[in-house]
Amino acid sequence: MKVLIVGSGGREHAIAASVAKSPKVDKIYCAPGNAGIEGLAECIPVGAMEFNKITAFAKEKDIDLTIVGMDDPLVGGLVDQLESAGLRAFGPRKNAAILEGSKAFSKDLMKKYHIPTAEYETFDDPKAAEAYLENADFPVVLKADGLALGKGVLICQDLEEAKEGVKSIMLDKKFGSAGNKMVIEEFMTGREVSVLSFVDGKTIKTMTSAQDHKRALDGDEGPNTGGMGTFSPSPFYTEEVDEFCKKYIYQPTVDAMAAEGREFKGVIFFGLMLTKNGPKVLEYNARFGDPEAQVVLPRMKNDIIDVVQACIDGKLDEIDLQFEDNAAVCVVLASEGYPVKYEKGYVIRGLENFEGKEGYYCFHAGTKKTEEGIVTNGGRVLGITAKGRDLKEARSNAYQATQWVAFENKYMRNDIGKAIEEV
Ligand code: AMP
Ligand code: GLY
Repeated sequence: MKVLIVGSGGREHAIAASVAKSPKVDKIYCAPGNAGIEGLAECIPVGAMEFNKITAFAKEKDIDLTIVGMDDPLVGGLVDQLESAGLRAFGPRKNAAILEGSKAFSKDLMKKYHIPTAEYETFDDPKAAEAYLENADFPVVLKADGLALGKGVLICQDLEEAKEGVKSIMLDKKFGSAGNKMVIEEFMTGREVSVLSFVDGKTIKTMTSAQDHKRALDGDEGPNTGGMGTFSPSPFYTEEVDEFCKKYIYQPTVDAMAAEGREFKGVIFFGLMLTKNGPKVLEYNARFGDPEAQVVLPRMKNDIIDVVQACIDGKLDEIDLQFEDNAAVCVVLASEGYPVKYEKGYVIRGLENFEGKEGYYCFHAGTKKTEEGIVTNGGRVLGITAKGRDLKEARSNAYQATQWVAFENKYMRNDIGKAIEEV
């Protein structure tokens, strides 16, 4: 069969690597892809938001299955458009992708269906938001309603900072129209865990757990990024936590979406906070996490095509989802200065060192092929993933492999997965 993947990051490279392992697949295309995905797929110069071009391409090439990796096209309705054209696509339709596309929607859903999450209020008037803040407890969390590249969340320590935050989100429109509405919520403390799951509208099967490191600098300092590294599984995600989440969070979310007439098919990413009062939902995403996918997918034993087809056909109950009994760590190699200001266009050396190395992966995020070779083309450049028998070994393998590649201004965190030492 012929598969088209939509997106261009490390997540899509990890998806492509999983798809390439399937004996059912003869040909992979990626729109637009990157220099790493090119090793597995034919990349076409079509952007993820060019819905008409993507649909026309899928029809022309007789694509059997399109996998949409990114949030923007999902929230914008790419799956709906492909389906209207008679094509098969994996990912939620627009009316279900709103689970990620609007934080106000997701918070109201959780409240209505009693799914544990932080206390909150929503606002579409900055004056009302400011008035509410006068009596709030600090720190307080401000969230732009819409998609903001994972950066629309502000944690404010006092009233002054929070008022400044409301201004930047709602008046200065720092995150564009994502800030037409906002959520103000209670600040929670605890350990964060990411749980990705496959959903077919009724049945949900969770993947192995992971933890992301969102801040730019060691010790969780510095600005929030798209993610600087991940490990999987999370030793903090115990069986007891899993039992609780299955009962009070996972299935209730799928059922709530169905009850609202927004049947969800695709991947739901649960961002959880393990608080002292039990697990609570920090956020939902309607897709694989990045860089979570870079540690979760390499550990999946199933043929990804079988699982994806079962989700589309409403037959996920027939799949026995299995993961390897090992661990993986991903260290992101970024451009110095990311996420604020950084340079691009530096040649990356040593990529060939990953060839034929079982259990090691060099997923490309921001890279581009040029006449001089493959060059850096973004803030997050590569995701270096390694497996190991346990987290300690995986961590040591991953950090060793970060030394196999070199480029100007290469930057990484040195404490990805260090938290496992606390267990
Ligand atoms: P989100 O995009 O909603 O995942 O938020 C990004 C990050 O902000 C999360 O991964 C948390 O680290 C932090 N965050 C979001 N909401 C809260 C909250 N209610 N309490 C504490 N931290 C939060
Ligand atoms: N790693 C967080 C995300 O994909 O949104």
